[in-house]
Amino acid sequence: MAGIRAVRVHAFGDAKSLSLDQVSAPSPASLAPDDVLVRVHAAGVNPLDVKMRSGAYQTMFPHTLPFIPGWDVSGVVEAVGTNARLWRPHDAVYGRPDFKRDGAYADYVAVKETELARKPESVSHVHAASVPLAALTAWQALFDLARLEAGQRVLVHAAAGGVGLYAVQLAKWKGAYVIGTASANNRSLLHALGVDEVIDYNAAPFETKIHDIDVVFNLVSGGAEIGTRSLSVLKQNGVLVSAVNDPAEEAAKQEKKGVMVRVKPNGAQLNEITKLVDAGMLKPFVSKVLPLEKATEAHEALDSRHTRGKIILRVAEPR
Ligand SMILES: NC(=O)c1ccc[n+]([C@@H]2O[C@H](COP(=O)([O-])OP(=O)(O)OC[C@H]3O[C@@H](n4cnc5c(N)ncnc54)[C@H](OP(=O)(O)O)[C@@H]3O)[C@@H](O)[C@H]2O)c1
Repeated sequence: MAGIRAVRVHAFGDAKSLSLDQVSAPSPASLAPDDVLVRVHAAGVNPLDVKMRSGAYQTMFPHTLPFIPGWDVSGVVEAVGTNARLWRPHDAVYGRPDFKRDGAYADYVAVKETELARKPESVSHVHAASVPLAALTAWQALFDLARLEAGQRVLVHAAAGGVGLYAVQLAKWKGAYVIGTASANNRSLLHALGVDEVIDYNAAPFETKIHDIDVVFNLVSGGAEIGTRSLSVLKQNGVLVSAVNDPAEEAAKQEKKGVMVRVKPNGAQLNEITKLVDAGMLKPFVSKVLPLEKATEAHEALDSRHTRGKIILRVAEPR
């Protein structure tokens, strides 16, 4: 393999600190024994990438400059490490690579084999790349932490965002009554996905509209205060799960339960999610597809904090 393309962060800062470089191709011989080398077809763009680029997450996930962001990938296996058993060359896979390693804004990425799952056959790589990080976050928050059950009432804040659109669909699949907060222009999309009630957070404070909620899932970037306000709508034994802060202390003050989700790679859960996508129960929603060289534009869009669904970088896929 000659040199490959990679978008790298050379200095912590704004979206302009991303640049498209030629780097040496990863050699199959240099793979860790349980790694798989993936030819990247599409890479998902997440708020996490923006935080890593800015340097805000250096304590949690330290990276040496320059590094390659992008922790959502869909692609095809090119080579496998000496101990890798799950995949073979030409398998179509997707996954959420380790946040501490280089990511998928590149022609190739090395990923631990257990962090990958079979790519859903019914959707393109572009749509598949929108799934792993966001759907796993929703799965782990709603099912592992909140233990959401059929018939329960769940409130999802930022329901129209990358994670939110998966969260509302997974909650409906589980049989819950689903309420989402979003601005008015996202109302019809959310109803079309089966959301029972949509609250326009610009029109009235959500806590004046609802009560007796079993589970609140807070996905508003910088929205710790929204989590605190949500405690008042929870039932006494309800739970607040937050993706944006640790709400345990605030919740305890009101004798409620609060917990932060910290998404983990999980190939087994992702395989379950693949089945739901292929069964048409979970629909990926991609609002914008950009070529790899436009990663800066993708990050600038995410900086607005009002994108709908996911933005994807097309790396190799022709369509
Ligand atoms: N801890 C973890 O493991 C984990 C995992 C994944 C994500 N996260 C974090 O979770 C957050 C959400 O991620 P994401 O990918 O879903 O983000 P995203 O796609 O960027 O979220 C954008 C959405 O937020 C909505 N929004 C903005 N302000 C709102 C408000 N006040 N009330 C309700 N909705 C509002 C917007 O809807 P409108 O345009 O309708 O306003 C938009 O659809 C990010 O901070 C991310 O870093 C954490």
